[in-house]
Amino acid sequence: MTNSPINLSDLIGRVNDSLCRSIASLSDLITRDAEARAYINWKLELLWELRDFQTLLLKHFDLEEEGPYNAALIREAPHCAPRLDELEDQHHNLLTALSRIIADLKQADTIRKAGEAQVCSHIKELLGRVQRHEAAERDLLQDVYFQDYGTGD
Ligand SMILES: [Fe+2]
Repeated sequence: MTNSPINLSDLIGRVNDSLCRSIASLSDLITRDAEARAYINWKLELLWELRDFQTLLLKHFDLEEEGPYNAALIREAPHCAPRLDELEDQHHNLLTALSRIIADLKQADTIRKAGEAQVCSHIKELLGRVQRHEAAERDLLQDVYFQDYGTGD
């Protein structure tokens, strides 16, 4: 049995790429023409894509929370702890919202398509929240590691 170390940046890159593909698939599924598809097939495809997205989000958040980067960031910039705490709280809120969407979709009436528009609107809103969350994390990293201290000319 080999015990080679995990290449964390490769892993983060792979999970992030998969997450981006899943967001693109979900965005496509919720905007597909309602008349051009069989509702039950669409519902199942959307449900499974949401479940894949949930797993990817959990892995992505695990890497952020359990990996060494957040601890290093706090060592580098302890004053940023409240921003990081808020971002980690958002992980919990995003996952709760996603679980609710999956439960709502499961209960959507497969005959009358009841609840479909509302579920799609909630998915669109959630994807926007995930993207804003990621942007806020990039801003935090930018503020801590890439501040322009002015090198002069
Ligand atoms: Fe995050």
